[in-house]
Amino acid sequence: MRVIGMLFVILFMTAVTTAQAPAREPVGPLALVMRSILFPNSNILFDTQSRDPDAPPETRDDGTVSATFSNIYTGWGLVEAASVALAESAQLIMMEGRMCENGLPVPVGNADFQQFARDLVDVGTKAYEIAKTKNLDAMIEITNDVAGACENCHAVYRRYEDRCTAP
Ligand code: HEC
Repeated sequence: MRVIGMLFVILFMTAVTTAQAPAREPVGPLALVMRSILFPNSNILFDTQSRDPDAPPETRDDGTVSATFSNIYTGWGLVEAASVALAESAQLIMMEGRMCENGLPVPVGNADFQQFARDLVDVGTKAYEIAKTKNLDAMIEITNDVAGACENCHAVYRRYEDRCTAP
């Protein structure tokens, strides 16, 4: 009985430990989230305008790890992954406490900023659905909306003067 009790306690403690989420604090500035996640992944979607994901992947071999594994995730699967990255990145954009390069906090409390982030979720989700159907025409079409989702937020919050503040 005691052994079972102990076992239960241990199992319970393990469950509690594993359920602890990582600290919800941003690590880097917004510009680096843009460069590392939004920029490369939106480019993967924009590539579909000039290159059919069904075309055989281009190979390169310069001895780097990136080159060696560049053929593992390709084609429509890569477009699906990039779409998910864009949709999910909205959560990172909306994290409390992240800074812009000019030292101002990311304006996560502004209603229009929140809407721009939601639009990114929507367009990324739509792109993901389209990528799953491998419909190239629809994919090319949605890339316009992807560009629009970036541009709408940038037009307000990425001006050279007063970045990250509303005009
Ligand atoms: C909700 C608002 C918002 C959305 C949506 C958004 N961005 Fe940004 N982005 C910003 C802000 C604000 C900055 C300026 C950050 C700074 O100056 O610190 C920025 C900066 C950038 C930068 C410049 C980073 C640098 O090196 O200075 C790139 C690249 C970028 N965004 C790409 C994208 C792409 C691609 C998309 C769409 C897929 C996108 N962004 C969508 C708000 C947004």
